[in-house]
Amino acid sequence: MFELSDLEIPVVAAPMAGGPSTTALAIAVNHAGGLGFLAAGYADPGVLAGQIADVRIATGAPFGVNIFVPGLPVRDRVAVQEYRESLRPLADRYGIDLPDIVEVDDDGYRTKLDLVIEHRVPVVSFTFGLPSAEDVARLHDAGIFVVSTVADPDDADRAVALGVDALCVQGVEAGGHRGTLDLDAVPNTTPTVRLVREVVDRSDVPVIAAGGIGDGTAIIAALAAGASAVQLGTALLDTDEAGTKPTHRAALRDPRFTETVVTRCFSGRYAQALRNRFTDTYSPSAPAEYPALHHLTSPLRKAAAAADDADDLNLWAGHAFRSAPTGPAAEVITTLWADARRG
Ligand SMILES: Cc1cc2nc3c(=O)[nH]c(=O)nc-3n(C[C@H](O)[C@H](O)[C@H](O)COP(=O)(O)O)c2cc1C
Repeated sequence: MFELSDLEIPVVAAPMAGGPSTTALAIAVNHAGGLGFLAAGYADPGVLAGQIADVRIATGAPFGVNIFVPGLPVRDRVAVQEYRESLRPLADRYGIDLPDIVEVDDDGYRTKLDLVIEHRVPVVSFTFGLPSAEDVARLHDAGIFVVSTVADPDDADRAVALGVDALCVQGVEAGGHRGTLDLDAVPNTTPTVRLVREVVDRSDVPVIAAGGIGDGTAIIAALAAGASAVQLGTALLDTDEAGTKPTHRAALRDPRFTETVVTRCFSGRYAQALRNRFTDTYSPSAPAEYPALHHLTSPLRKAAAAADDADDLNLWAGHAFRSAPTGPAAEVITTLWADARRG
């Protein structure tokens, strides 16, 4: 079975659903000696199967697939309906219809789980919830290394109790969604290094540190806190192989965007994004209804991207967004690691 210590360099490409994680990005990170990752979230299982085959053929090195654990069915339909109505002026502006409310969506969890087991994907990570103990046992029987994504020490304890092989621990600096288990909980405000130390002190399970890691100093700090590897998300968003939308890439450097906010306005689940008009307008009223809100805002976000309007887009970004490097991902990772080693 894979071990984090097998990696030539202890760097993991964050799985980034919704476009940024491409096959090319996973392959490039593998070529640099890190762990490439595919994002199964929102992905069609057939497409995912093709991506798994492509990465395997291209590198022969271990890689990972990240799976979303299903959320709850809509709990407060009235709140979702009200939110839907509040989006109407924006939909009118883009000339699109708002979709019906999606009450239940498990993101094809069982199909994706069966797929990674059938393909014996070396590493499988979970976010938005915990796999069952039976699922962890099935993955282990297939020789798969299991990672659980957490953002809170108590959640880490629950994952450890299931027998996972590593924890991806996300601090407050992390871009995009975090793996906070309780949908209603305001995400932890603990910085990555401190959270890693807290989790490392409580268990022997290896930790992958995630959140705000954008230079050699941050890599050293995370490893010194006890992490076995670091996971880079925002730092890979503007690399050549990432599938990040052009509007999103440009916003990372646009002086108009000066800060990030943690908001559930796009998906119904807290996530960190550049503060823009959409987050200012909709954050106060967004109910904790994932994935219903994800589906409601999806066509609006598509329209905003097509119109190159960064103000209505989910510009996921962590605290280190301003220093997100450009260029080939392998070069970016090699440079960051060399920077860390120089100390
Ligand atoms: C655009 C984007 C999409 C993300 N999508 C996922 C995802 O699909 N699954 C997941 O576990 N984490 C996802 N994350 C969170 C990352 O795994 C990681 O924890 C985070 O990017 C680390 O913080 P950083 O962005 O400051 O490096 C995403 C992050 C970003 C920026």
